[in-house]
Amino acid sequence: LKIGALISGGGTNLQAIIDACEAGEINAEIAFVGSDHPGVKGLDRAAKHGIPSFVMEYGPILKNPEDYPAAPGLDLDDVISKQHLFYGEGALERAEPYCAVRAVAEAQLLKEMDKFEYDVLVLAGFMRIFTPYIIDKINKGHDLPRIMNIHPALLPAFPGVDGYGDTFKYGCKVGGCTVHFVDYGEDSGPIIGQKAYTIDPGDTEEDIRKKGLELEWRLYPECIGLYADGRLSLTKRGRRTVVEVS
Ligand code: GRF
Repeated sequence: LKIGALISGGGTNLQAIIDACEAGEINAEIAFVGSDHPGVKGLDRAAKHGIPSFVMEYGPILKNPEDYPAAPGLDLDDVISKQHLFYGEGALERAEPYCAVRAVAEAQLLKEMDKFEYDVLVLAGFMRIFTPYIIDKINKGHDLPRIMNIHPALLPAFPGVDGYGDTFKYGCKVGGCTVHFVDYGEDSGPIIGQKAYTIDPGDTEEDIRKKGLELEWRLYPECIGLYADGRLSLTKRGRRTVVEVS
């Protein structure tokens, strides 16, 4: 299985995946690492292991996608018309200029990623939400979704940017982490795997984060291994699409 990985920061999950690949624990290799921030530690990790990488900065949020600097040669009309499909005619002019700008950045990101061959795109601490535009492009022609994410909470509890903080502040007695396929929502796609930890009296937010991260480093490679071994499929349960593991 060829993995494309996207990161925004430290990349400890990336490291866990690299290690699992190198140790032969999973039948996979990393084709590239992309980051939306320059100079992050995850990029050093890639370099250290001889993995090609690139930086694609999303840039400032601009009102007009035409002003967006980082998309030479991009078919802007194509991107914008797709945004209209998803967000309704006139979305650009009305409420969601950011969506259009995001899609322009994503088109650029796709171009970078298309320089490599990859079977699955693994989001490892990548702090951006994809629009339907990029999700559809990546999934097109494939039975299984091709984008995976790791989230620091037991979904569907606590979606969003601070899963461990939210778990702590809610006073939960267990917490955990989740690997899921990416769909159009925020942290809402079909769940591939989860691991849970106990929250003991006196545990701080930092303790929770530490317990959770250690589980993440085991969970993500395991889930990628299931994908690599062809053990995942989708099925319907009521209105939900869920993952079955064989
Ligand atoms: C992890 O907690 C992950 O669940 C969340 O962001 C963090 C990334 O950490 N999405 P790292 O960059 O893998 O160290």
